[in-house]
Amino acid sequence: MLSTRRALAAAVSVAALLAASACDSADEGPSSTQVEVFTWWAEGGEKAGLDALVDRFTAECPGQQFENGVVAGGAGINAKQVLDARIDQNDPPDTYQVHAGAELAEFIAAGRVQDISAEYDSWGLRQALPQGLINDLSVDGKLYSVPANIHRANVVWANTQILSDAGIVRAPKTLDAFLRDLAKLRKAGVESPLALGRDWTQLMVLESVLLSRLGPERFAGLFTGATRWEGRLVATALNDYAQLIGYSNADRDALDWPEAERLLIDGRAGYQVMGDWVAADLQAKNFSGYETFTFPGTGGVFQWLADSFVLPTGAPNPAGSRCWLKAVASVDGQREFNIRKGSIPARTDVAGDGFSAYQLGAMKDWASGTVVPSCAHGSACSQDWQNALNAALSAFSTAPVKDTSALQRALAATAAQYVRR
Ligand code: GAL
Repeated sequence: MLSTRRALAAAVSVAALLAASACDSADEGPSSTQVEVFTWWAEGGEKAGLDALVDRFTAECPGQQFENGVVAGGAGINAKQVLDARIDQNDPPDTYQVHAGAELAEFIAAGRVQDISAEYDSWGLRQALPQGLINDLSVDGKLYSVPANIHRANVVWANTQILSDAGIVRAPKTLDAFLRDLAKLRKAGVESPLALGRDWTQLMVLESVLLSRLGPERFAGLFTGATRWEGRLVATALNDYAQLIGYSNADRDALDWPEAERLLIDGRAGYQVMGDWVAADLQAKNFSGYETFTFPGTGGVFQWLADSFVLPTGAPNPAGSRCWLKAVASVDGQREFNIRKGSIPARTDVAGDGFSAYQLGAMKDWASGTVVPSCAHGSACSQDWQNALNAALSAFSTAPVKDTSALQRALAATAAQYVRR
């Protein structure tokens, strides 16, 4: 099916070339003018963000046509498998989404992506991006992907009405206060006050709890080998985590994040722990009855992740891929995309006008706060490690008896296997 689609795209492109087109990248002798962009941004705020990038690409890349290679599923849970299979079959898209950090490093090590250092120089990106992010995107001084944004992971979204009905008027400052508010909501008749979804969304909750209990330095050390997963603070965090899960919906393992978010919108839950793509998604769904705060006990910390786009090895239309990357990297592209996606620009020279109050606050925190990476979204750990943690949390979620000591042993075993010292 994939090759049929590719053949069709090639036929369309030949027709387009014959019809005269002035492709601005003719020096590469393109055999196609289709640019297949592979993401997991299929609906709501994510689709709105992608659409903004497509508009910029269309304006800046005459003669090239966007082809949507989207595979739905939050955090790329399905897309990543499809992408692996396509790369194995030598059928890469023209460009695809990869998280900056450890996840991208694996792609670089596997030779899946091409060096675009020369493009960084000609597009002035080395000056426009923060040095820390450049370090996370590069290996041995070479750059391999263009970041589209920065998202924050350690955020709680709350249904204002549901909270005020239960007499909760202020955001909890500590994890213990948060647990008390969840108990209050349940007492007020909200059976599952914490809206939760499947594996990777559970990993986000666990990471926030660990960050809250261990603090940023020890938290980051969990993924570098500097902090032991067998420690006492991790045990405390796992007990908190078990309590939090106990306040969530029983069908969590069957839900993706937008379905869990639906529980929040409909007032069947009071809170959801999720990255700040929720802001754009709630806007796309016309829901304004919410408030948001950083996960209790992690206030000054910005747990970051970044979506980036690459030039794949063997990309069918590299000139088209480069034009997409240039549009993503541009000041206008970053402004238009991020305003709609809920994230903030990776570039440091994008003016704040047009961004929401939430986003302006996030920009300030990103610039001044303590920054830690996310494993659920690939900035802290490899894909294999993510998969192993997701599996351990699913097993815990579905187990009739919540044995936190067994969970701690399972988590420690993943670290022993995957940490790169
Ligand atoms: C993340 C991605 C975000 C958002 C989220 C939910 O992995 O970086 O842009 O799409 O998944 O799907």
